Amino acid sequence: EQKQAMKDLQNEFEVTTDKLRTIVNQFIAEMKKGLEHNGATVAMIPSYVTGRPTGMETGTYLAIDLGGTNLRVCQVSLNGNGEVSIQQQKYRVPEPLKVGEMRALCDFISDCIDSFLTEMGTDPMEQVLQLGFTFSFPVNLTAINRGNLMQWTKGFACAGAIGKDPALMLQDSLRRKNLKVRVAAIVNDTVGTLMAHAYRDRSTFMGIIFGTGTNAAYYERMDRIPKWEGGQTKGDEMVINMEWGAFDDERRVLPVTVHDNKLDRESINPRFHIYEKLISGMYLGEIVRNVALSLIDRFLLFNGFSSAEFNKQWSFETAYMSTIEIDASSDLDETKRVLESILGITKTTLADRQMVKTICHLVGVRAARLSAAGVAAVMSHCDLLQKDCCTAAVDGSVVEFYPNFSETMTKALKELFGEDVDKKIKFAPSRDGSGLGAAVIAMQVSKGM
Ligand code: BG6
Ligand code: GLC
Repeated sequence: EQKQAMKDLQNEFEVTTDKLRTIVNQFIAEMKKGLEHNGATVAMIPSYVTGRPTGMETGTYLAIDLGGTNLRVCQVSLNGNGEVSIQQQKYRVPEPLKVGEMRALCDFISDCIDSFLTEMGTDPMEQVLQLGFTFSFPVNLTAINRGNLMQWTKGFACAGAIGKDPALMLQDSLRRKNLKVRVAAIVNDTVGTLMAHAYRDRSTFMGIIFGTGTNAAYYERMDRIPKWEGGQTKGDEMVINMEWGAFDDERRVLPVTVHDNKLDRESINPRFHIYEKLISGMYLGEIVRNVALSLIDRFLLFNGFSSAEFNKQWSFETAYMSTIEIDASSDLDETKRVLESILGITKTTLADRQMVKTICHLVGVRAARLSAAGVAAVMSHCDLLQKDCCTAAVDGSVVEFYPNFSETMTKALKELFGEDVDKKIKFAPSRDGSGLGAAVIAMQVSKGM
């Protein structure tokens, strides 16, 4: 019976090459809709970032980065020749602030900026500092530093923010604290990651985040953005923040299982961002937990017993999946440690541990293959196979720490486009990059570039 259950799971979680093709085709169609009109499922938001950095830019800028694992405050000095020096401080956003009043969250950010500047010995009263604000949520921009928050994602749910301008709210808070800091640009993390890498490597075409959430940005030709109403732009291309996490919220093509539906229902944003929920770090561990619980309930795992800890939502972190995936010991000792010492399961057999390991693998491989579908859609839409090799800057805890994530994506891309695909697109890790990217954008804005 256990074998049959595992076989069924394998079928449920498998994304065949044919299935991938169907998903990619739907993805391309949704991208087009998003470029045509506002309010589409895949929002395809124009970022107001038009130029490509040359690497020669100079100056010192502030950046903050909200929306990933940590809040980061950075001081970035662009030294020209693609050289930079970055000083940064990480802060953990207390959980209650993520779901409290937006005003309180902005005050927390201002306080972090204040203490960072004090530590740096920078006097914010002396001159106005220009700030690039990486705010990694869907914001419909109306200018480079103006926009409205469309929705919260990734477990944030502050009151008094949806439909409002996060840049203005932060600016108000900075004013209340008497900090002479000007929010020069509001930037998505994907756009920041793209720009940070482009500062060093001009072949950079995409920025992709596989972290707590997932999303991508790429350079689009202006004549392929029919919905653009912002008038004449400097260049003939603009970076688009896709907000691809919302892909297939209609659930036409994604292989959504009962375990994913359970996760979705219990999330802070049910029915939204389903693609993100199948792929990103906030959710993968929870899917594994749901699958395991269903097997426990059928007496197929842990002899039918869970634990108080394992019954808690989010208790099985995505990081545990990585630990278990790389556990090569014959007795699966690391897996045992996670399940018994951390999660309090009383006693696991080797067979139990093997089952958990297989579940992690199925969920992880599905995530990477579905991620490849998004990349493939952008590659097709932009005709990248006909062009020279381009670089996709990637960042986020999943691509950084999940074993073989990029390799599994590349394998899926090879199934779709042939063996040579890795000569057309390269994934370049761009660690902690979006702060630098936001600073580069703040520089472009303040110098009128
Ligand atoms: C960081 C970037 O390195 O990665 C952030 O600077 C981004 O802007 C984050 O949001 C995503 O990864 P994670 O895993 O922290 O969500
Ligand atoms: C979520 C956000 C998006 C962000 C992504 C990665 O999908 O909506 O704006 O880029 O997470 O952090």
